[in-house]
Amino acid sequence: MAHAELDRLQACLNFALDTLRKEMDNSQLPPLSQHSSVEHPLDDSTTYLPSTGLFEARRLSLACLGELKNLIQSPLDKCMEERFTVYGVACTDTLIKTGIIDYLSDVPNPSQGVPAAELASKFELDSQKLVPILRCCAASGWVRETRDSSFALNRCSRTFIEGNAGRKLNFSMPGFMSMIETIPHWVAESDWKLSRSPEQTAFQIAFNTPLLAFSWIVENPDVLVPIADHLQVYGDMSTPSVVADYPWEQLQTPVIVDCGGGEGGLISAILDAHPSFRAIVQDMENVVPLTSSIMEERRPRDIENGVIKVEAHDFFQPQPRIGNEYSFILRHIMHDWPDKEAATILGNVARALGPKSKILIVDMVAVPNVDSTATTSVKSLMLDGGAKGPDYRIPSHFGSASRIVSGSSVHMLTMINGCERSLREWEKLVKGCGLRITNIYPLRAHTSIIECALDTRALL
Ligand SMILES: C[S@@+](CC[C@H](N)C(=O)[O-])C[C@H]1O[C@@H](n2cnc3c(N)ncnc32)[C@H](O)[C@@H]1O
Repeated sequence: MAHAELDRLQACLNFALDTLRKEMDNSQLPPLSQHSSVEHPLDDSTTYLPSTGLFEARRLSLACLGELKNLIQSPLDKCMEERFTVYGVACTDTLIKTGIIDYLSDVPNPSQGVPAAELASKFELDSQKLVPILRCCAASGWVRETRDSSFALNRCSRTFIEGNAGRKLNFSMPGFMSMIETIPHWVAESDWKLSRSPEQTAFQIAFNTPLLAFSWIVENPDVLVPIADHLQVYGDMSTPSVVADYPWEQLQTPVIVDCGGGEGGLISAILDAHPSFRAIVQDMENVVPLTSSIMEERRPRDIENGVIKVEAHDFFQPQPRIGNEYSFILRHIMHDWPDKEAATILGNVARALGPKSKILIVDMVAVPNVDSTATTSVKSLMLDGGAKGPDYRIPSHFGSASRIVSGSSVHMLTMINGCERSLREWEKLVKGCGLRITNIYPLRAHTSIIECALDTRALL
Protein backbone atom coordinates (compact mmCIF):
# COMPACT_ATOMS: atom_id res chain seq x y z
CA MET A 1 0.00 0.00 0.00
CA ALA A 2 1.26 3.51 -0.77
CA HIS A 3 2.05 5.58 2.31
CA ALA A 4 2.63 8.77 0.37
CA GLU A 5 3.30 11.19 3.26
CA LEU A 6 5.33 8.73 5.29
CA ASP A 7 7.42 7.75 2.27
CA ARG A 8 8.09 11.35 1.30
CA LEU A 9 9.12 12.35 4.83
CA GLN A 10 11.33 9.31 5.23
CA ALA A 11 13.07 10.02 1.92
CA CYS A 12 13.49 13.67 2.86
CA LEU A 13 14.93 12.76 6.26
CA ASN A 14 17.39 10.34 4.65
CA PHE A 15 18.47 13.02 2.20
CA ALA A 16 18.84 15.63 4.97
CA LEU A 17 20.84 13.27 7.21
CA ASP A 18 23.13 12.19 4.35
CA THR A 19 23.81 15.84 3.62
CA LEU A 20 24.39 16.56 7.32
CA ARG A 21 26.94 13.74 7.50
CA LYS A 22 28.71 14.92 4.34
CA GLU A 23 28.81 18.55 5.49
CA MET A 24 30.17 17.53 8.90
CA ASP A 25 32.91 15.51 7.23
CA ASN A 26 33.75 18.42 4.91
CA SER A 27 34.02 20.67 7.96
CA GLN A 28 36.20 18.05 9.71
CA LEU A 29 33.81 17.84 12.63
CA PRO A 30 33.83 14.76 14.89
CA PRO A 31 30.73 12.52 14.92
CA LEU A 32 27.87 13.55 17.21
CA SER A 33 27.37 11.34 20.26
CA GLN A 34 24.76 11.22 23.00
CA HIS A 35 27.20 9.20 25.10
CA SER A 36 29.98 11.73 25.00
CA SER A 37 30.53 13.89 28.06
CA VAL A 38 32.51 16.42 26.02
CA GLU A 39 30.95 19.33 24.15
CA HIS A 40 30.75 19.15 20.35
CA PRO A 41 31.61 22.31 18.34
CA LEU A 42 28.07 22.27 16.90
CA ASP A 43 26.62 22.54 20.42
CA ASP A 44 27.34 26.24 20.85
CA SER A 45 25.99 28.54 18.16
CA THR A 46 27.45 31.54 20.02
CA THR A 47 30.96 30.35 19.14
CA TYR A 48 30.71 28.01 16.13
CA LEU A 49 29.35 29.01 12.72
CA PRO A 50 28.40 25.95 10.62
CA SER A 51 28.69 25.94 6.82
CA THR A 52 25.47 27.03 5.10
CA GLY A 53 24.90 23.46 3.89
CA LEU A 54 25.33 22.07 7.39
CA PHE A 55 23.01 24.69 8.88
CA GLU A 56 20.33 23.92 6.29
CA ALA A 57 20.75 20.13 6.54
CA ARG A 58 20.37 20.27 10.31
CA ARG A 59 17.25 22.42 10.07
CA LEU A 60 15.71 20.19 7.40
CA SER A 61 16.50 17.04 9.45
CA LEU A 62 14.78 18.56 12.49
CA ALA A 63 11.82 19.67 10.36
CA CYS A 64 11.42 16.12 8.97
CA LEU A 65 11.67 14.59 12.44
CA GLY A 66 9.00 16.97 13.72
CA GLU A 67 6.69 16.30 10.78
CA LEU A 68 7.19 12.54 11.18
CA LYS A 69 6.32 12.82 14.86
CA ASN A 70 3.20 14.83 14.06
CA LEU A 71 2.24 12.21 11.47
CA ILE A 72 2.62 9.08 13.56
CA GLN A 73 2.01 10.14 17.18
CA SER A 74 -1.52 9.70 18.51
CA PRO A 75 -3.35 12.94 19.38
CA LEU A 76 -3.87 11.74 22.96
CA ASP A 77 -0.16 11.03 23.41
CA LYS A 78 0.59 14.40 21.84
CA CYS A 79 -1.78 16.08 24.28
CA MET A 80 -0.23 14.35 27.31
CA GLU A 81 3.29 15.07 26.13
CA GLU A 82 2.57 18.76 25.58
CA ARG A 83 1.01 19.16 29.02
CA PHE A 84 4.02 17.45 30.57
CA THR A 85 6.53 19.69 28.75
CA VAL A 86 6.27 22.13 31.61
CA TYR A 87 7.64 19.47 33.98
CA GLY A 88 10.71 19.17 31.77
CA VAL A 89 11.37 22.87 32.38
CA ALA A 90 10.96 22.44 36.14
CA CYS A 91 13.24 19.38 36.16
CA THR A 92 16.19 21.09 34.41
CA ASP A 93 15.67 24.12 36.68
CA THR A 94 15.87 21.77 39.68
CA LEU A 95 19.16 20.24 38.51
CA ILE A 96 20.66 23.70 38.18
CA LYS A 97 19.22 25.12 41.40
CA THR A 98 20.29 22.18 43.57
CA GLY A 99 23.88 22.31 42.26
CA ILE A 100 23.61 18.79 40.80
CA ILE A 101 24.77 19.92 37.33
CA ASP A 102 27.96 21.54 38.65
CA TYR A 103 28.62 18.56 40.95
CA LEU A 104 28.22 16.03 38.11
CA SER A 105 30.64 18.04 35.98
CA ASP A 106 33.27 17.74 38.68
CA VAL A 107 33.04 14.06 39.72
CA PRO A 108 36.21 11.92 39.22
CA ASN A 109 34.64 9.92 36.37
CA PRO A 110 32.14 12.25 34.67
CA SER A 111 31.10 9.78 31.96
CA GLN A 112 30.11 7.15 34.56
CA GLY A 113 28.26 9.59 36.78
CA VAL A 114 27.09 8.85 40.32
CA PRO A 115 24.14 7.11 42.02
CA ALA A 116 21.15 9.30 42.84
CA ALA A 117 21.68 8.29 46.48
CA GLU A 118 25.06 10.05 46.45
CA LEU A 119 23.48 13.20 45.03
CA ALA A 120 20.73 13.01 47.64
CA SER A 121 23.19 12.71 50.49
CA LYS A 122 25.53 15.42 49.14
CA PHE A 123 22.71 17.98 48.79
CA GLU A 124 20.47 16.74 51.65
CA LEU A 125 17.67 15.77 49.26
CA ASP A 126 15.28 12.84 48.92
CA SER A 127 16.55 10.32 46.36
CA GLN A 128 12.96 9.19 45.71
CA LYS A 129 12.25 12.65 44.35
CA LEU A 130 15.52 12.91 42.48
CA VAL A 131 15.24 9.73 40.42
CA PRO A 132 12.03 10.68 38.52
CA ILE A 133 13.34 14.22 38.03
CA LEU A 134 16.64 12.95 36.61
CA ARG A 135 14.80 10.42 34.42
CA CYS A 136 12.60 13.18 33.05
CA CYS A 137 15.78 15.11 32.13
CA ALA A 138 17.26 11.94 30.60
CA ALA A 139 14.15 11.47 28.42
CA SER A 140 14.70 14.97 26.99
CA GLY A 141 18.35 14.19 26.28
CA TRP A 142 19.82 16.31 29.06
CA VAL A 143 21.49 13.61 31.23
CA ARG A 144 22.25 9.87 30.88
CA GLU A 145 21.18 7.09 33.20
CA THR A 146 24.39 5.04 33.12
CA ARG A 147 23.15 2.26 35.46
CA ASP A 148 19.81 1.88 37.22
CA SER A 149 19.43 5.15 39.20
CA SER A 150 22.94 6.44 38.44
CA PHE A 151 23.24 9.57 36.35
CA ALA A 152 25.92 11.39 34.36
CA LEU A 153 26.04 14.62 32.42
CA ASN A 154 26.03 14.22 28.66
CA ARG A 155 27.50 16.70 26.21
CA CYS A 156 24.26 18.74 26.03
CA SER A 157 23.89 19.32 29.76
CA ARG A 158 27.39 20.81 29.92
CA THR A 159 25.80 24.03 28.63
CA PHE A 160 24.12 24.33 32.08
CA ILE A 161 27.43 24.38 33.99
CA GLU A 162 28.04 27.68 35.83
CA GLY A 163 29.42 30.30 33.42
CA ASN A 164 28.28 28.44 30.27
CA ALA A 165 25.84 29.86 27.71
CA GLY A 166 22.85 27.60 28.45
CA ARG A 167 22.99 28.47 32.16
CA LYS A 168 22.52 32.15 31.32
CA LEU A 169 19.94 31.46 28.62
CA ASN A 170 17.91 29.25 30.97
CA PHE A 171 17.10 32.10 33.36
CA SER A 172 13.48 33.08 33.65
CA MET A 173 12.03 35.54 36.12
CA PRO A 174 10.36 34.23 39.25
CA GLY A 175 6.66 34.39 38.38
CA PHE A 176 7.26 33.45 34.74
CA MET A 177 5.11 30.30 34.96
CA SER A 178 2.17 32.20 36.43
CA MET A 179 2.38 34.61 33.49
CA ILE A 180 2.05 31.65 31.13
CA GLU A 181 -0.93 30.38 33.10
CA THR A 182 -2.56 33.82 32.69
CA ILE A 183 -2.48 33.76 28.86
CA PRO A 184 -5.90 32.13 28.18
CA HIS A 185 -7.61 34.53 30.64
CA TRP A 186 -5.82 37.57 29.17
CA VAL A 187 -6.66 36.64 25.56
CA ALA A 188 -10.22 35.42 26.03
CA GLU A 189 -11.79 37.04 29.11
CA SER A 190 -9.86 39.99 30.52
CA ASP A 191 -10.76 43.68 30.06
CA TRP A 192 -7.58 43.92 27.98
CA LYS A 193 -8.45 41.16 25.57
CA LEU A 194 -8.66 43.61 22.66
CA SER A 195 -5.88 45.92 23.85
CA ARG A 196 -2.68 46.25 21.82
CA SER A 197 -0.98 48.33 24.53
CA PRO A 198 2.43 47.11 25.80
CA GLU A 199 1.16 48.00 29.29
CA GLN A 200 -1.92 45.76 29.15
CA THR A 201 -0.62 42.22 28.79
CA ALA A 202 -0.48 38.94 30.68
CA PHE A 203 2.77 40.28 32.18
CA GLN A 204 1.00 43.13 34.06
CA ILE A 205 -1.77 40.76 35.21
CA ALA A 206 0.59 38.05 36.46
CA PHE A 207 3.12 40.41 38.05
CA ASN A 208 0.36 42.64 39.41
CA THR A 209 2.07 45.79 38.19
CA PRO A 210 1.08 48.74 35.97
CA LEU A 211 4.69 48.91 34.71
CA LEU A 212 5.91 48.04 31.24
CA ALA A 213 7.98 44.82 31.36
CA PHE A 214 11.29 46.70 30.71
CA SER A 215 10.53 49.29 33.41
CA TRP A 216 9.64 46.52 35.87
CA ILE A 217 12.93 44.76 35.12
CA VAL A 218 15.10 47.84 35.67
CA GLU A 219 13.28 48.52 38.95
CA ASN A 220 14.09 44.99 40.16
CA PRO A 221 17.88 44.83 40.55
CA ASP A 222 17.73 41.09 41.38
CA VAL A 223 16.62 40.26 37.85
CA LEU A 224 18.32 43.02 35.84
CA VAL A 225 21.76 41.38 35.48
CA PRO A 226 20.52 37.78 34.88
CA ILE A 227 18.04 39.07 32.31
CA ALA A 228 20.71 41.19 30.59
CA ASP A 229 22.94 38.07 30.51
CA HIS A 230 20.04 35.97 29.16
CA LEU A 231 19.37 38.52 26.41
CA GLN A 232 23.06 38.71 25.55
CA VAL A 233 23.29 34.91 25.02
CA TYR A 234 20.01 34.96 23.06
CA GLY A 235 21.59 37.61 20.84
CA ASP A 236 24.99 35.89 20.72
CA MET A 237 23.31 32.90 19.07
CA SER A 238 23.19 34.96 15.86
CA THR A 239 26.37 37.02 16.39
CA PRO A 240 28.84 34.82 14.40
CA SER A 241 26.43 34.81 11.45
CA VAL A 242 25.66 38.56 11.68
CA VAL A 243 29.41 39.20 11.49
CA ALA A 244 30.07 36.70 8.67
CA ASP A 245 26.97 36.96 6.49
CA TYR A 246 26.52 40.72 6.10
CA PRO A 247 28.81 42.61 3.67
CA TRP A 248 30.16 45.04 6.30
CA GLU A 249 32.84 46.30 3.89
CA GLN A 250 30.08 47.81 1.74
CA LEU A 251 28.73 49.92 4.59
CA GLN A 252 29.58 53.52 3.73
CA THR A 253 29.32 55.04 7.20
CA PRO A 254 32.28 55.08 9.63
CA VAL A 255 30.17 54.74 12.80
CA ILE A 256 27.73 51.97 13.76
CA VAL A 257 25.14 52.79 16.41
CA ASP A 258 23.64 49.78 18.23
CA CYS A 259 20.24 50.98 19.49
CA GLY A 260 19.15 49.10 22.62
CA GLY A 261 22.53 47.36 22.39
CA GLY A 262 22.32 45.78 25.87
CA GLU A 263 25.69 44.49 27.08
CA GLY A 264 27.38 45.45 23.78
CA GLY A 265 28.37 41.92 22.69
CA LEU A 266 27.30 42.37 19.07
CA ILE A 267 29.21 45.60 18.51
CA SER A 268 32.33 44.03 20.07
CA ALA A 269 32.20 41.11 17.65
CA ILE A 270 31.68 43.42 14.64
CA LEU A 271 34.65 45.60 15.66
CA ASP A 272 36.86 42.53 16.15
CA ALA A 273 36.20 41.52 12.55
CA HIS A 274 36.08 45.06 11.09
CA PRO A 275 38.35 47.31 13.17
CA SER A 276 37.97 50.27 10.81
CA PHE A 277 34.52 51.10 12.24
CA ARG A 278 33.79 53.12 15.35
CA ALA A 279 30.75 52.25 17.43
CA ILE A 280 28.20 53.65 19.85
CA VAL A 281 26.10 51.45 22.14
CA GLN A 282 22.86 53.11 23.22
CA ASP A 283 20.50 51.78 25.88
CA MET A 284 18.26 52.92 28.72
CA GLU A 285 19.68 55.11 31.48
CA ASN A 286 19.55 52.30 34.07
CA VAL A 287 21.21 49.78 31.73
CA VAL A 288 24.21 51.81 30.47
CA PRO A 289 26.17 51.59 33.76
CA LEU A 290 26.19 47.79 33.28
CA THR A 291 27.15 48.15 29.59
CA SER A 292 29.91 50.64 30.43
CA SER A 293 31.43 48.45 33.13
CA ILE A 294 31.44 45.43 30.79
CA MET A 295 33.03 47.46 27.98
CA GLU A 296 35.62 49.05 30.28
CA GLU A 297 36.61 45.59 31.46
CA ARG A 298 36.67 43.90 28.03
CA ARG A 299 37.80 46.73 25.72
CA PRO A 300 39.53 49.35 27.90
CA ARG A 301 41.64 50.68 24.99
CA ASP A 302 38.65 51.18 22.69
CA ILE A 303 36.81 53.07 25.41
CA GLU A 304 39.89 55.23 26.14
CA ASN A 305 40.45 56.00 22.43
CA GLY A 306 36.80 56.77 21.80
CA VAL A 307 36.44 53.86 19.34
CA ILE A 308 33.48 52.69 21.42
CA LYS A 309 31.13 55.02 23.23
CA VAL A 310 28.32 53.95 25.53
CA GLU A 311 25.47 56.44 25.90
CA ALA A 312 22.02 56.61 27.43
CA HIS A 313 19.35 57.14 24.82
CA ASP A 314 15.65 56.38 24.97
CA PHE A 315 14.70 55.18 21.50
CA PHE A 316 11.25 56.72 21.89
CA GLN A 317 13.00 60.12 21.70
CA PRO A 318 14.54 61.66 18.54
CA GLN A 319 17.84 59.98 17.60
CA PRO A 320 20.73 62.38 18.35
CA ARG A 321 23.23 60.72 15.97
CA ILE A 322 22.28 62.32 12.68
CA GLY A 323 23.53 62.08 9.09
CA ASN A 324 25.85 60.19 6.79
CA GLU A 325 28.35 59.32 9.51
CA TYR A 326 26.01 56.78 11.10
CA SER A 327 24.34 53.45 10.37
CA PHE A 328 22.14 51.75 12.93
CA ILE A 329 21.58 48.23 14.24
CA LEU A 330 18.37 47.21 15.94
CA ARG A 331 18.77 43.59 17.04
CA HIS A 332 15.83 41.97 18.83
CA ILE A 333 14.30 45.42 19.37
CA MET A 334 11.38 45.63 16.96
CA HIS A 335 9.91 42.26 17.99
CA ASP A 336 9.62 43.62 21.52
CA TRP A 337 7.01 46.17 20.50
CA PRO A 338 3.49 46.40 19.02
CA ASP A 339 3.18 48.12 15.61
CA LYS A 340 2.46 51.62 16.96
CA GLU A 341 5.52 51.68 19.25
CA ALA A 342 7.68 49.86 16.67
CA ALA A 343 6.83 52.59 14.13
CA THR A 344 7.82 55.31 16.63
CA ILE A 345 11.18 53.63 17.33
CA LEU A 346 11.96 52.99 13.66
CA GLY A 347 10.66 56.44 12.65
CA ASN A 348 13.05 58.13 15.12
CA VAL A 349 16.01 56.32 13.55
CA ALA A 350 14.70 56.93 10.01
CA ARG A 351 14.59 60.71 10.61
CA ALA A 352 18.29 60.64 11.60
CA LEU A 353 19.49 58.87 8.43
CA GLY A 354 21.69 60.40 5.79
CA PRO A 355 21.49 59.11 2.19
CA LYS A 356 24.43 56.75 2.87
CA SER A 357 23.12 55.42 6.19
CA LYS A 358 21.58 52.00 6.62
CA ILE A 359 19.36 50.53 9.30
CA LEU A 360 20.05 46.84 9.96
CA ILE A 361 17.12 45.20 11.68
CA VAL A 362 18.19 41.82 13.06
CA ASP A 363 15.02 39.90 13.87
CA MET A 364 13.05 36.86 12.85
CA VAL A 365 10.99 36.79 9.68
CA ALA A 366 7.96 34.66 10.57
CA VAL A 367 6.78 32.47 7.71
CA PRO A 368 3.03 31.85 7.58
CA ASN A 369 2.19 28.26 8.43
CA VAL A 370 0.92 27.29 4.99
CA ASP A 371 1.21 23.84 3.56
CA SER A 372 3.76 24.46 0.85
CA THR A 373 7.27 23.24 0.34
CA ALA A 374 10.17 24.82 2.22
CA THR A 375 11.94 25.89 -0.93
CA THR A 376 14.70 28.07 0.54
CA SER A 377 16.37 25.22 2.32
CA VAL A 378 15.99 22.79 -0.52
CA LYS A 379 17.51 25.23 -3.02
CA SER A 380 20.47 25.88 -0.81
CA LEU A 381 21.03 22.20 -0.14
CA MET A 382 21.00 21.51 -3.85
CA LEU A 383 23.38 24.35 -4.59
CA ASP A 384 25.80 23.19 -1.95
CA GLY A 385 25.43 19.47 -2.43
CA GLY A 386 24.77 19.46 -6.15
CA ALA A 387 22.40 16.56 -5.47
CA LYS A 388 18.80 16.33 -6.58
CA GLY A 389 16.69 15.80 -3.51
CA PRO A 390 13.53 13.74 -3.25
CA ASP A 391 10.01 15.08 -3.52
CA TYR A 392 9.66 17.11 -0.30
CA ARG A 393 6.54 18.23 1.48
CA ILE A 394 7.94 20.16 4.44
CA PRO A 395 5.85 23.18 5.48
CA SER A 396 7.31 26.48 4.31
CA HIS A 397 7.99 27.49 7.93
CA PHE A 398 9.98 24.26 8.55
CA GLY A 399 7.33 22.77 10.82
CA SER A 400 8.55 22.04 14.30
CA ALA A 401 12.02 23.33 13.39
CA SER A 402 10.42 26.79 13.57
CA ARG A 403 9.09 26.34 17.11
CA ILE A 404 11.64 28.84 18.35
CA VAL A 405 10.11 31.46 16.03
CA SER A 406 6.50 30.67 16.95
CA GLY A 407 7.38 30.35 20.65
CA SER A 408 9.23 33.65 20.58
CA SER A 409 6.23 35.32 18.96
CA VAL A 410 3.90 34.15 21.76
CA HIS A 411 6.50 35.16 24.37
CA MET A 412 6.76 38.69 22.95
CA LEU A 413 2.97 38.92 22.76
CA THR A 414 2.61 37.84 26.38
CA MET A 415 5.28 40.15 27.76
CA ILE A 416 4.63 43.32 25.79
CA ASN A 417 2.10 42.80 22.98
CA GLY A 418 5.04 42.42 20.57
CA CYS A 419 5.41 39.75 17.87
CA GLU A 420 7.66 38.17 15.26
CA ARG A 421 6.68 39.74 11.92
CA SER A 422 6.18 38.19 8.50
CA LEU A 423 7.82 39.72 5.43
CA ARG A 424 4.55 41.43 4.51
CA GLU A 425 4.34 42.96 8.01
CA TRP A 426 7.98 44.09 7.88
CA GLU A 427 7.40 45.76 4.50
CA LYS A 428 4.36 47.64 5.82
CA LEU A 429 6.18 48.82 8.95
CA VAL A 430 9.31 49.90 7.07
CA LYS A 431 7.35 51.70 4.33
CA GLY A 432 5.27 53.57 6.93
CA CYS A 433 8.51 55.09 8.28
CA GLY A 434 9.64 56.49 4.90
CA LEU A 435 12.12 53.63 4.42
CA ARG A 436 12.52 50.79 1.98
CA ILE A 437 13.96 47.32 2.41
CA THR A 438 17.16 47.30 0.34
CA ASN A 439 18.05 43.65 1.03
CA ILE A 440 17.32 40.72 3.31
CA TYR A 441 20.23 38.58 4.44
CA PRO A 442 19.16 35.17 5.79
CA LEU A 443 21.44 34.20 8.66
CA ARG A 444 22.69 30.86 9.88
CA ALA A 445 20.48 31.50 12.91
CA HIS A 446 16.77 31.97 13.60
CA THR A 447 16.97 35.60 12.52
CA SER A 448 17.66 37.53 9.32
CA ILE A 449 19.11 40.98 8.64
CA ILE A 450 16.52 43.29 7.12
CA GLU A 451 18.57 46.08 5.59
CA CYS A 452 16.72 49.39 5.15
CA ALA A 453 17.57 52.81 3.77
CA LEU A 454 15.74 56.09 3.19
CA ASP A 455 13.16 55.65 0.46
CA THR A 456 14.29 58.49 -1.77
CA ARG A 457 11.70 57.37 -4.33
CA ALA A 458 9.04 58.54 -1.88
CA LEU A 459 10.41 62.11 -2.18
CA LEU A 460 10.12 62.24 -5.99
C1 LIG B 1 15.83 42.12 23.69
S1 LIG B 1 17.03 43.18 24.27
C2 LIG B 1 18.15 43.26 22.92
C3 LIG B 1 19.55 43.62 23.34
C4 LIG B 1 20.58 43.67 22.20
N1 LIG B 1 20.13 44.49 21.09
C5 LIG B 1 20.98 42.29 21.72
O1 LIG B 1 20.70 41.96 20.58
O2 LIG B 1 21.58 41.55 22.51
C6 LIG B 1 16.21 44.75 24.21
C7 LIG B 1 17.06 45.91 24.65
O3 LIG B 1 16.31 47.12 24.48
C8 LIG B 1 16.60 47.97 25.58
N2 LIG B 1 15.52 48.96 25.71
C9 LIG B 1 14.25 48.77 26.14
N3 LIG B 1 13.55 49.91 26.13
C10 LIG B 1 14.41 50.87 25.67
C11 LIG B 1 14.27 52.27 25.41
N4 LIG B 1 13.11 52.91 25.62
N5 LIG B 1 15.35 52.93 24.94
C12 LIG B 1 16.53 52.28 24.71
N6 LIG B 1 16.71 50.95 24.93
C13 LIG B 1 15.67 50.26 25.41
C14 LIG B 1 16.70 47.00 26.75
O4 LIG B 1 17.36 47.57 27.85
C15 LIG B 1 17.47 45.84 26.11
O5 LIG B 1 18.85 46.02 26.22
